[in-house]
Amino acid sequence: MRLALPAATALLLASCGGASTDDIHPQTVRAAMTDLIEPASDQIQTIAFELYNEEGDLDPSLLNASQWDALDEAARTIEQAALALEAAPDMPVATEGETLWNEDSEGASTAADVAAYIAADPAGYASEARKLAGIGQGISLAAEMRDPIALDEAALALTDSCTSCHNQFWYKQED
Ligand code: HEC
Repeated sequence: MRLALPAATALLLASCGGASTDDIHPQTVRAAMTDLIEPASDQIQTIAFELYNEEGDLDPSLLNASQWDALDEAARTIEQAALALEAAPDMPVATEGETLWNEDSEGASTAADVAAYIAADPAGYASEARKLAGIGQGISLAAEMRDPIALDEAALALTDSCTSCHNQFWYKQED
């Protein structure tokens, strides 16, 4: 059923070494973020933006079938990656020697910092991951139903869920 995949989705699938979202098994948190969640989320936001016509109204006829399919695929990627995070709060944050995004800047977290934040509240972390998985599932359903309103709301919720988990488990919490 995967005809005419847009290039970004094809790349995404190639980068996780399988032709199906069932094969998504990130080995580190960073790999889940950079190889799966971030590109899929970008793709969803870009396509969701195209649902708006010039008057600023949502118009589902603006998306073609392959865009709806790409949304569905990207959403499933997020769902699967998030379920993998939920199932393994002890997943390594990064590979040995790898630095996190922006790690060199003042006050930024290292992989060891992040591992400590997660170890301090694995249930909270799993619950953030479950939230993200649920949003992925919602986007996938909205895409299958060609429902622009549900999609638009879920795309907003998607961004909020990134921020919510990052605030607690990535950025240093200093008051
Ligand atoms: C369950 C918690 C959780 C959720 C939800 C989450 N992230 Fe993350 N993310 C993390 C953690 C922990 C880090 C820090 C470790 C790291 O840098 O990979 C991180 C780091 C990142 C990074 C930096 C990766 C790097 O190079 O170091 C990106 C990009 C990212 N997240 C994107 C996203 C986006 C986009 C979303 C929402 C669609 C999201 N994340 C949702 C936990 C989460």
